[in-house]
Amino acid sequence: MPNQVVYVKDKHTKLFIPGPTEVKKEIIEEMEEWMFGHRSEKMTELFTTMTEDTKKFLGTENDVIILSTSGTLFMESSIMNCVDDKVLCSTCGSFSQRQADIAERLGKNVDRLEYEWGKAVKPEDVREALEKKDYDAFTCVMNETSTGIRNPLEEIGEVMKDYPETLFIVDAISALGGDYIDIEGSNIDVIFTSVQKAFAMPPGLAVCVVNDKAYEREANSKSASWYAGFQRNIDYYNKKGQTHSTPAISLMLAYRKQMKRMLEEGHKVRDQRHKDMAEYTQKWAKKHFDMFPEKGYWSQTVSTIKNTQGLNINELRQEIDEKYGIQFSNGYGKQLKEKTFRIGHMGEHTVEDVKELTDAIEEVAGL
Ligand SMILES: Cc1ncc(COP(=O)(O)O)c(C=O)c1O
Repeated sequence: MPNQVVYVKDKHTKLFIPGPTEVKKEIIEEMEEWMFGHRSEKMTELFTTMTEDTKKFLGTENDVIILSTSGTLFMESSIMNCVDDKVLCSTCGSFSQRQADIAERLGKNVDRLEYEWGKAVKPEDVREALEKKDYDAFTCVMNETSTGIRNPLEEIGEVMKDYPETLFIVDAISALGGDYIDIEGSNIDVIFTSVQKAFAMPPGLAVCVVNDKAYEREANSKSASWYAGFQRNIDYYNKKGQTHSTPAISLMLAYRKQMKRMLEEGHKVRDQRHKDMAEYTQKWAKKHFDMFPEKGYWSQTVSTIKNTQGLNINELRQEIDEKYGIQFSNGYGKQLKEKTFRIGHMGEHTVEDVKELTDAIEEVAGL
């Protein structure tokens, strides 16, 4: 058992970690409603509104599945549903490695296209690998949260166009909603996210966008997830406008309201706000430290900064939390824990908010 940490209710700590992110008070309050049945008309109205608004926000004609789960389930089910035999998994950090590990655990025949942590997946390498062997699917993370890399999905998608039998599966968990991607235009067959990241909602729901090709693949595949089966979820929605089992109704109330906010802001405007935050953070990092990931592939939602000043990141984090009620993240995993630190600038934050954090770091670290 880890040491118990004192939990103080109602203390608001502003989150600049790469998820969960800040949730607006009015969105939290939206969950305070009496329960209703998940087979009621009220539920149909709630679930169809959320689903159709999500399609509109993402600008996709593909099917949208919203499930009560964290995003990892879609990492698993996209493999179960779409891969009978061989899958090529690109790995460039912890989460893309998790995707390959999941595929292996499911007994699939996995080849890894491996990159050092901090490097991006290159389209020409993907082409070279796909030329050598036939794969049921290729997996790629859009935004590697452990290293702060944004992979060039749009260019990789151009490659995937030449291999139509290989489905393009994308983990966009720390990107979607804060970094615009043209799903159909990038030839993506399956793409998923968790709502506690750039959607700025409480954790507990995940979203998966599935095209007809992936839906058909599942119909003919030997294995498929029951709970996160594409067909079961999409068919149930099309027939009843509801979920196949009891969903997290309170979270869905929050989702409906937050998705309306996101629609109001607009995907492109939201994308620009995230670009602005990323540029501000990168400029600040270069002034005082250095960026960790490969140049040209810096994430729009999370900046991984090299600890060139040899600061004690844990002490710094603790002091900033106590003094200012603000949290940011240390580096990910054993390799990057003290060597880097991460600033999550996604969801509802603005440049002014990020400046509040960087000012606090400057003050406490005496930069
Ligand atoms: C890129 C990426 N993939 C997968 C996950 C796992 O998502 P979840 O915790 O919602 O299952 C995360 C979480 O940080 C992530 O950033």
